[in-house]
Amino acid sequence: METGFIGVDLGTSAVKLILMDETGKIIRTVSKEYPISFPHPGWSEQDPSDWYEQSIAGIREVIEGYEDKVRGISFGGQMHGLVVLDEEDNVIRPAILWNDGRTAKECEFLNETIGRDVLTEETGNIAFAGFTAPKLLWMKANEPELFARIKKIMLPKDYLAYRLSGVHATDVSDASGMLLFDVKNRKWSEKMCEICDVKEEQLARIFESYEVIGTVKPEIAKELSIAEDVKVIAGAGDNAAAAIGTGTVQDGDCNISLGTSGTIFISSAAYSVDDKNALHSFAHANGRYHLMGCMLSAASCNKWWMEDILKESDFAGAQEGITKLGENEVFFLPYLMGERSPHNDPDARGAFVGMSMDTSREDMIQAVFEGVAFALRDSFEVAKASGIRITRTRICGGGARSPLWRKIMANVLNIAVDSIESEEGPALGGAMLAAVGCGVWKDVEEAAARIVKVSATVEPEPELAAKYEKKYQKFRHIYPALKDVYKL
Ligand code: XUL
Repeated sequence: METGFIGVDLGTSAVKLILMDETGKIIRTVSKEYPISFPHPGWSEQDPSDWYEQSIAGIREVIEGYEDKVRGISFGGQMHGLVVLDEEDNVIRPAILWNDGRTAKECEFLNETIGRDVLTEETGNIAFAGFTAPKLLWMKANEPELFARIKKIMLPKDYLAYRLSGVHATDVSDASGMLLFDVKNRKWSEKMCEICDVKEEQLARIFESYEVIGTVKPEIAKELSIAEDVKVIAGAGDNAAAAIGTGTVQDGDCNISLGTSGTIFISSAAYSVDDKNALHSFAHANGRYHLMGCMLSAASCNKWWMEDILKESDFAGAQEGITKLGENEVFFLPYLMGERSPHNDPDARGAFVGMSMDTSREDMIQAVFEGVAFALRDSFEVAKASGIRITRTRICGGGARSPLWRKIMANVLNIAVDSIESEEGPALGGAMLAAVGCGVWKDVEEAAARIVKVSATVEPEPELAAKYEKKYQKFRHIYPALKDVYKL
């Protein structure tokens, strides 16, 4: 290895790090967990110092023995989280995360009083509970003294970059999820800042994801035994970073991520907004754009069901007995943290529907996989309705390791599903952005062409896809039927 690039995926359950060389080979991977707290039902918070400490420990471990080779570091980070610092750079309150649903009132104000049209015009998006701007309004209304102390507003991975480099920066893909950013023109929206009582100097300087924001601070370089000119590259929101890591960079390319959240990501050369703005219209990390549907609970539904409820740790073993694909009478609504795309309903919750006396454990495990696939298809349908034709997708995230889930996904969506050789999605994307920023490849597209390889494909089977089509049409009735119950 001549030179090394660190990719950091600042996730919700853990930070995952990789060290990649100049040929795109992954030398080492490290993962470090941190806690998440749910102080009220539907709220979710983390302590930014946990991110920092675990990331530093992870960086030290991932570069051990290669310290002198490191040239650049970049990130994929959980999106939308609100991190606020005071005059002395102290974190004012725990970060409010992407899957936090406390801002229903603020979203209603933004969508109804300010108006969806204004929001779409200014930002390319409407308000969803997890987005950053409604959280600022929530702080202003509920924690006015803390709100008054805010000197800097930043996103999770940008907090890490700030601690490493001293530069208050963000990138276009992550900024897109704040509802303060004019996605089309890649700049802060003055009007949105005014609406949210935010001054532009509180916000970070905008970079493209592959641009260098600075170098590591001398004391950090010393602490990690790396050179003082190691570059810090802006990085991307985790979905855009994962898209880079799976080579989802050409117009119309699609990537599905089955992590804590579940996303469907469509890379687009041009800026566009769907009819009702049900999908997010965000900037991509390759200098262009993308559309995205995001469900708040995906692989986390399976984790909750297996570990918390069934007390089962052998996930693969539990899937072995599942044979009745397309025949399951049980349905599962995966809205354990409310739902973002396309329902935009923080009050929605999970539900099993359709059990009978002969329902088995396997049926219910299967229903969880299927429920996530059906819910993702809801966003896929929005994309199709706006004229986008998708015939295949790449897949990444923890859930993508399950062959059963990949098969369900391929048949529920009725498209081919490609797995990628490296499973490191956002962390690999981060390392690729670091290498592009350091001049190893001319752009993100070249990096993807050189590195990313499809390792296996699941094709949909016509008979099974037809069975799932019928099941999906049934599934579509369940949420509207329960919607009002959740509001009672
Ligand atoms: C995307 C979103 C999630 C988080 C997960 O809009 O909220 O995918 O980025 O880390």
